[in-house]
Formats: sequence, structure tokens, C-alpha cells
Amino acid sequence: MERDLRPLHLGIIMDGNGRWATARGLPRTAGHRAGAVALRRVVEWAAASHEVNTLTAFAFSSDNWQRSSEEVGALMGLFGHYLRSERRSCRRQGVRLSVIGRRDRLSDDLRDEIAVAERLTAGGGRLTLRIAVDYSARYAILRALGRMGTKESDPERFGRVLSSLDGGPAVQPVDLLIRTGGEQRLSDFLLWECAYAELYFTSVMWPDFGSDDLDVALNAFHRRERRFGGLPSSTPAVQAGAA
Ligand code: FPP
Repeated sequence: MERDLRPLHLGIIMDGNGRWATARGLPRTAGHRAGAVALRRVVEWAAASHEVNTLTAFAFSSDNWQRSSEEVGALMGLFGHYLRSERRSCRRQGVRLSVIGRRDRLSDDLRDEIAVAERLTAGGGRLTLRIAVDYSARYAILRALGRMGTKESDPERFGRVLSSLDGGPAVQPVDLLIRTGGEQRLSDFLLWECAYAELYFTSVMWPDFGSDDLDVALNAFHRRERRFGGLPSSTPAVQAGAA
């Protein structure tokens, strides 16, 4: 089978931080800190790889506000720290960083950190890194609909508006969605954009996820046949109904 050589949009649901920490007798927040290190590793890999041009990572779902105020506070602190510590290395690596999701419930400080990181990295052309914070795909779809009007009927145009809703660049639909941590669900992440995504679930906990795991996931992806509702490329024309 021919390998698909177009650069990919990779979506990642970074699950398993809490269980990784608990298994080591550590507080859950230590798992999130280790998760931030894993994200840095994957971003470095993606920026250097040429295989991926867009990476969207799910850092905080709109439903995660239900967690303890201690955990939510630690995560928000970690996002601010990540933006401050990574923005220069993102710029060096040609990574354009943008944050998708609601901003109205974030602190002023975090909103400012986001604006600085987005501004500083706006010229990055190797990789678009989108971090989803206070993100709900259903809510994003409703916002995009509100922006376009309910009469919109061009899915391509709608997809462009949806993907650039928060001011970042318009991006292609997701090609490969990876979820770590053993669960097999989408949890309100990029529902529209994943219409034809290949789904890859692994029991590896997010803090342990590294470039070897990425290679395994990408090899699995390249073995899949993407048909987008069509027929297998090996189907003889006569069988496929050609005249
Ligand atoms: C899900 O694991 C993970 C989260 C809710 C937070 C994800 C955050 C990070 C990976 C931190 C790094 C991100 C940035 C942008 C700095 P979980 O806590 O639900 O794990 P569990 O299912 O084992 O409890």
C-alpha cells in the first residue's frame, strides 16, 4: 500500500496523568507536570519530523472544571508556566502556538500569557501547535454556527471557520487521533474535525508517551486504508460499478 506523504494533522487526547502519578504514590498534579514534559517531547519530535504540520493537544476540557479546585488551580498554573517556558523554544523551532477553547473563564494573567505566546510565535511555519484549554467541541460548533448563520451549508467553509474560531490559523481536518491512557472515547474533542480521522488508542499513560510510541502509532496509521466513504483502491473498476 502506498504511504500517505501529506503532512498530517495529529490530534492527541493526553490521558492518564492522574493514574501515572497515583501508581507512583505521587499527587495527581505531579502526573500533570510529567504530562507537560511529555508534551514538550512530542512537540519537539513533531517540529523536526516533517510528517506532521498540525498538532492539537487536549489539555483541559470544559468538563474538567468539575475537578477539585486544587487540581484545576495546579493545571491553570501549569499552562501559564508552559506558555512562559516554551514560547521561545517554540519560536526557535518554527512552531506557531495557538490556544483553542473558551477564554472568558480563564484568568486575566493566563489570557495575557496566551496572547504573548501567540504573538511571539506567529511566524512559525514548521508546525502549528494548538493547545485546547476550556475546550468543548460541541460548544465550538455552536459558536461557529452562530458566527456563520444557520443557513450555512458548505462543510468545507464551516470547517475553516470552526478551526480558526479563536484567531489561530485555519487548519485541515484531523488525520490521526491518538488517545493515551486506555480509554476509547472522544470526550467532546474535535468532533467535527475528526469526521474521517483514524483513531488510535493506546494503554500507555501520557507521561510515558514518547517518540517510540509515536512511531508505532504512525506506522499503524500508514497501514490503514483511508477511504473517506469511497471504495478500497484495490476494488476492480467493474466491481465498483464503472461503465
Ligand atoms: C487527563 O489525564 C489529562 C488532563 C485533564 C490534563 C492534561 C494536561 C497535561 C498533559 C499537562 C500539560 C499540558 C500543558 C499545556 C502544560 P487525567 O488527569 O484525567 O488522568 P487519569 O485519567 O489517569 O486520572
